[in-house]
Amino acid sequence: MTRDQAETLVSSAQKARERAYAPYSNYHVGAALLGEDGEIYSGCNVENSSYGATICAERVAVFAAVAKGCRNFEALALATGGKEPAPPCGMCLQVLAEFAPSLPVLLSCPEGDPIETTLEILLPRQFNRDELS
Ligand code: THU
Repeated sequence: MTRDQAETLVSSAQKARERAYAPYSNYHVGAALLGEDGEIYSGCNVENSSYGATICAERVAVFAAVAKGCRNFEALALATGGKEPAPPCGMCLQVLAEFAPSLPVLLSCPEGDPIETTLEILLPRQFNRDELS
């Protein structure tokens, strides 16, 4: 991923964050996945009055990509609020690991530069399909 691609990805995540539907938590999240096809698949969190029906931004992005036929990813950018960037939740890490076990991840918040990490760092011992055999 080039620096330009990284900047575009972070700005896509920030734009997606503006579309978050989070009237209950008021915690707005945006995600942007760079597919191997060069497309950016973005998502925001979508909450529900039945709280458990809420879905995180990262899973919206992954499912949008898969539904469009893209299952291989180059990087993820996440945009959250607060003073420090936040990582994806455990459920989203697991969903990301299904498709991209060593995905580069850029964590951003309104202040400061994005933090660069990887899915292997965030979820080192991944449950995967090999466990099932
Ligand atoms: N949320 C995400 O969108 N991604 C995460 O990785 C963590 C949490 C959302 C879910 C809910 O709408 C709000 O943030 C508070 O948990």
